[in-house]
Amino acid sequence: MEPTLFDPLCYAEESQKENTIVIGPPSLLSKIDKETSYIITGDALTALKQLPEETVQTCVTSPPYWGLRDYGIPDQIGTEMDVCEYLDKLVKVFREVKRVLKPDGTFWLNMGDGYTSGGRTYRAPDKKTDNDHVVRGLPFRPPTPAGLKPKDLLGLPWRLAFLLQEDGWYLRADIIWFKPNILPESVKDRPTIAHEYIFLLTKNERYYYDYQAILEPAVSGKGYRNKRSVWAVNTEPYPEAHFATFPPSLVLPCILAGSKPDDLVLDPFLGSGTTGLVALQKKRNFIGIELNPEYCALAEKRLTPYAMILKNETETEA
Ligand SMILES: C[S@@+](CC[C@H](N)C(=O)[O-])C[C@H]1O[C@@H](n2cnc3c(N)ncnc32)[C@H](O)[C@@H]1O
Repeated sequence: MEPTLFDPLCYAEESQKENTIVIGPPSLLSKIDKETSYIITGDALTALKQLPEETVQTCVTSPPYWGLRDYGIPDQIGTEMDVCEYLDKLVKVFREVKRVLKPDGTFWLNMGDGYTSGGRTYRAPDKKTDNDHVVRGLPFRPPTPAGLKPKDLLGLPWRLAFLLQEDGWYLRADIIWFKPNILPESVKDRPTIAHEYIFLLTKNERYYYDYQAILEPAVSGKGYRNKRSVWAVNTEPYPEAHFATFPPSLVLPCILAGSKPDDLVLDPFLGSGTTGLVALQKKRNFIGIELNPEYCALAEKRLTPYAMILKNETETEA
């Protein structure tokens, strides 16, 4: 079968640009070279504050879930006992994202949901990850938030979306990421959750959105149509990362619709570097921020085939 625009097979063919990635501390962001990409080791909020305003064309990110994973590092987001504190931290990070976005920029925010603990405070050790010292399930479950009951769906994606709207963002679309290959859950009193949200948020009423770059085949089989708001994309774990990573095919339409070649793409929660990978493959530059140095090393290893890597540990003056 011919590779299509949306087929990861065509990535490599399009990546002929000479790329450079600089790896270093947040202070590097105070003076960026727009021809270069960056992996910044540090806290998202601290690092974003260094970046000059209106530099980024699009942001694609997936913040840590609340109360699920222990990424094993101080200042990590997601381990708060109070869900309001978690949401407040994300609103503050994304306020900085809004500041650094260009006036016609877009923000693609992936959020998954969860359930209240149902009164259980202890979490059984995570069998899959407990021995690898990289990432593990949190050993505790945060208490049920005020106003919710045991077994309630938290509704976190929409709670965050409404807070971001209040904070000035335009909420333009709720895209359903449908995961056809999701693993079974051991529940018998509700459907198995097979989706997450991707919110399309913008800084202004008018913004750059190349709908033609992401047309999808029409149902009739003749021609193409505007991309719909349900995206069926299989989960695709990156073998060396022991946490939820973006499938590249999920990030691809966000970057294609949200930016042009040579534009700057941001991911403030870079993890294994998937946003950077797709950005480079599509001839964009990127800034990825990641708190955990082990994951920065993972992203570096993953992106080495696509770029020359330069280490710069020097603190620059803001
Ligand atoms: C859901 S993962 C992102 C995965 C990523 N989309 C990928 O494809 O690999 C969330 C990431 O946020 C990082 N993180 C947690 N708190 C952070 C903070 N305060 N600043 C920056 N990164 C943070 C975690 O270490 C983790 O790698």
